[in-house]
Amino acid sequence: MSEVLECHGLSKRYGAKLALESVDLTLARGELVGLLGPNGAGKTTLMKSACGLLRPSGGSVSVCGAPAGSGEALSRLGYLAELFRFPGWLTAEEVIELHQGLSRSRGGAAERAALLDLVGLGEARGVKVDAMSKGMQQRLGIAQALVGTPHLLLLDEPASALDPAGRRAVRELLLSLRQRGISVLLNSHLLSDVELVCDRVVLLVGGRVVRSGRPADLVRPRGVEVETASGVHTYEGSTREDAPRIVSELVAGGEQVYGVRVLASTLEDVYLESVGA
Ligand SMILES: Nc1ncnc2c1ncn2[C@@H]1O[C@H](COP(=O)(O)OP(=O)(O)OP(=O)(O)O)[C@@H](O)[C@H]1O
Ligand SMILES: [Mg+2]
Repeated sequence: MSEVLECHGLSKRYGAKLALESVDLTLARGELVGLLGPNGAGKTTLMKSACGLLRPSGGSVSVCGAPAGSGEALSRLGYLAELFRFPGWLTAEEVIELHQGLSRSRGGAAERAALLDLVGLGEARGVKVDAMSKGMQQRLGIAQALVGTPHLLLLDEPASALDPAGRRAVRELLLSLRQRGISVLLNSHLLSDVELVCDRVVLLVGGRVVRSGRPADLVRPRGVEVETASGVHTYEGSTREDAPRIVSELVAGGEQVYGVRVLASTLEDVYLESVGA
């Protein structure tokens, strides 16, 4: 069976600007992949190419085996654009209804209610977009992307306007989508969120993939920190496997141990190192 998203040697040129350079990226069913990179790295260009909104200058993109932009590919994906704006005079429910019409979803009122509940807008179904906060509009955008139960969800910075509770709700939503077998490509600058939920991350810099892998494999151990009655002791270079020995030696030496922490670099450290910041 083909992958849900396949980019092979994908390149995109805007005039003299090479925005994507021979990018290979695949997403399997149910995979949650974070697409990271500094401003201008080519993340939105990659997403638009997967939607068929941009024609690649080289290479190929397909969704569930169908060429990006074809009717078959479009019927399989949901997209939340980076800079979207819904008509201010429509209610939340009318926005979803509009997108049901555009994507020929037959889900009707039941799908509208389920999607609005899923993003916490069940009570706000009659509220007009103009009267919504930015966070509410962003959650409505996520609901809109899920119309028609796509196999692949492309989310371009879905949590940038959300407060901490809203960000957590989106993380939980992403995990529940993965359980249902929906694949998600998540473009985000919120590295701690990405680290918490993504199976894999792909880091783009200047249109090229410079790092990719599971967050846990990209970060490096930084040592072990032990809190005792005499203060906090740091054992640099030690790993999780060294922790029991360190603790038993401290206890044997008469120390009282209150806490042990295995230190690792964060995805943010890996990111900053990779982009040369
Ligand atoms: N329509 C366009 N015409 C010309 N250049 C463009 C166009 N769209 C994007 N670019 C350029 O292509 C590069 C990649 O842009 P893109 O929007 O894909 O980056 P991004 O990674 O999404 O950045 P951000 O994090 O700021 O959203 C940038 O240098 C941008 O200026
Ligand atoms: Mg972008």
